Amino acid sequence: MKALVLSGGAGTRMRPLTHTTAKQLVPVANKPVLFYGLEAIARAGIRDVGIIVGETADEIRDAIGDGSKFGLDVTYIPQAEPLGLAHAVLIAREFLGDDDFVMYLGDNFLVGGISRLVDNFRLERPDAQILLTRVSDPTVFGVAELGASGSVVRLEEKPLHPKSDLAVVGVYLFTPAIHEAVRSITPSLRGELEITHAIQWLIDTRRTVRSTTVSGYWKDTGNVMDMLEVNRTVLETLEPRIEGEVDEESQIIGRVLIEEGARVHRSRVVGPAIIGRSTVISDSYIGAYTSVSEDCRIENSEIEFSIVLRDSSIKGVRRVEASLIGRNVTVTPAPAVPHAHRLVLGDHSTVQISS
Ligand code: DAU
Repeated sequence: MKALVLSGGAGTRMRPLTHTTAKQLVPVANKPVLFYGLEAIARAGIRDVGIIVGETADEIRDAIGDGSKFGLDVTYIPQAEPLGLAHAVLIAREFLGDDDFVMYLGDNFLVGGISRLVDNFRLERPDAQILLTRVSDPTVFGVAELGASGSVVRLEEKPLHPKSDLAVVGVYLFTPAIHEAVRSITPSLRGELEITHAIQWLIDTRRTVRSTTVSGYWKDTGNVMDMLEVNRTVLETLEPRIEGEVDEESQIIGRVLIEEGARVHRSRVVGPAIIGRSTVISDSYIGAYTSVSEDCRIENSEIEFSIVLRDSSIKGVRRVEASLIGRNVTVTPAPAVPHAHRLVLGDHSTVQISS
């Protein structure tokens, strides 16, 4: 059994953090979302992984290398343009050979891994096994319609009028039957070869397509509350450890990971929380469900239930809550006079100011 991980695409389709970076590298609890997928694949006993890369290939290669740090053997498969998930399967034909495989979308996060799923698939070998999850807005997903017996009757890609709230999760298991399917379909209205259509082709040609409904699923749709929520879920499982330096005037309470080179001075950190490498926290309060990435500075501030990405600083601000702060961001108070806000905000930013 092999794995095909999709990390191509332009990296510009999602907001708010992915204008300049691969969306698969957006961090959840200070770790790129793609890493969780690769770890789940390794835990399921799969070693051979093909990674589809596009415009952001360099960033992905820098992050993953040859895969050995995950216990994987990685082959990179360049895709000149993001022509669709089924197109990715087409161009991976040589890598996949006649093996069964799990296809994993690199921007998807599935709590609990895929080991049980892979084990069941190995035993039963339906032509396709898909995962479904209930979502509040199915229009941004593939959507499944189930028949009376629970079998998949129809799949639609991002329907305007969804027939159910069951979204297709970006983890699929296939036998080599999928290769004929991806060769048989034509591009959708958005110009992509859709994997949803290829699976529909399998259904229409009477192959076995099974579905399992799961909970604990997340994908970066640009929704900040969703992202804070997945960050919270992962932080709850954090292994507390202090690798950095905490002075005597500081208090660390609960499940807290202070990474190497981080320094906490005259501050209080209440877990679950993570403080990234070489970040400096001084005279501050870091509250529960907060992830601060590497090389940040938080001085004389209070922050809770938030994500701060690398190289950012927050100085003299209280209090920041339910916020997502990108890379290289500076947050400071305005001078007392004139009583005005001074903002330098990137495209598509959202700011809520209390005054
Ligand atoms: O996330 C689940 C959804 O993923 C499913 O519900 C949909 O049925 C499925 O079509 C897909 O929808 P998206 O339009 O959201 O997929 P997206 O374009 O975001 O691509 C998913 C991943 O695959 C992402 O990591 C980028 C990568 N990709 C995408 C395309 C189109 C490639 O590597 N190559 C491609 O050609």
